[in-house]
Amino acid sequence: MRSERPKDTGDDMGGTQPLEGKAPVDDAARKSDEAISVAAALGSRTLVLVGLMGAGKTTVGRRLANRLGLPFVDADAEIEKAAGSSIADIFEEFGEAHFRDGEQRVILRLLGEGPQVLATGGGAFMNSKTRDATSEKGISIWLKADLDVLMKRVSRRSHRPLLQNDDPEAVMKRLIDDRYPIYATADLEIDSKEGPHDAVVDKIVRALAKTLKCGGTET
Ligand code: S3P
Repeated sequence: MRSERPKDTGDDMGGTQPLEGKAPVDDAARKSDEAISVAAALGSRTLVLVGLMGAGKTTVGRRLANRLGLPFVDADAEIEKAAGSSIADIFEEFGEAHFRDGEQRVILRLLGEGPQVLATGGGAFMNSKTRDATSEKGISIWLKADLDVLMKRVSRRSHRPLLQNDDPEAVMKRLIDDRYPIYATADLEIDSKEGPHDAVVDKIVRALAKTLKCGGTET
């Protein structure tokens, strides 16, 4: 059985300013128009969130899906469902390589099921087949966060096998060195700082509107 993963909590609502020189636009209505345009322009593509443990992929992904009116899927949860055991147990019983095989298989399957928002585990985007399939069937979004923010978030819980050791911060630093150059090949790079998760969602929707060339996206 999978163990329940507690979610990051976040407060709502980062606001945006009305365009200068124009009558104030209802912020909620503008955001919702933008979200509708983005969802329409996406077609059947999947929005794939990548980034390190603690970057906020699941929490932000859920909110992004909600904003865009799309289904949300968490790759780690799907792997656990397929395996009938928790990620910690898969690592312990079969090792990381076995987990990575399952991870690739599950994500390649999920990528055929868009449109949707897909949160991936921190190591998933390191797999070149997963990256290729992502660029074919989706748009990748790197949620980038600083070491101190990542450590603060991951230290709240203990379900991550890669961090079950004497020096999780050293592991995280090594993962930053190894993975950031690869995450940097994602289609979009979004800062995931401390603060309201909805502010991160706002940034993603704005960046998508620009990339997908939806109207009314001046910043
Ligand atoms: C991993 C990240 C985890 C999970 C597994 C391995 C990684 O997911 O897939 O523990 O290699 O960074 P989160 O990034 O959602 O914590």
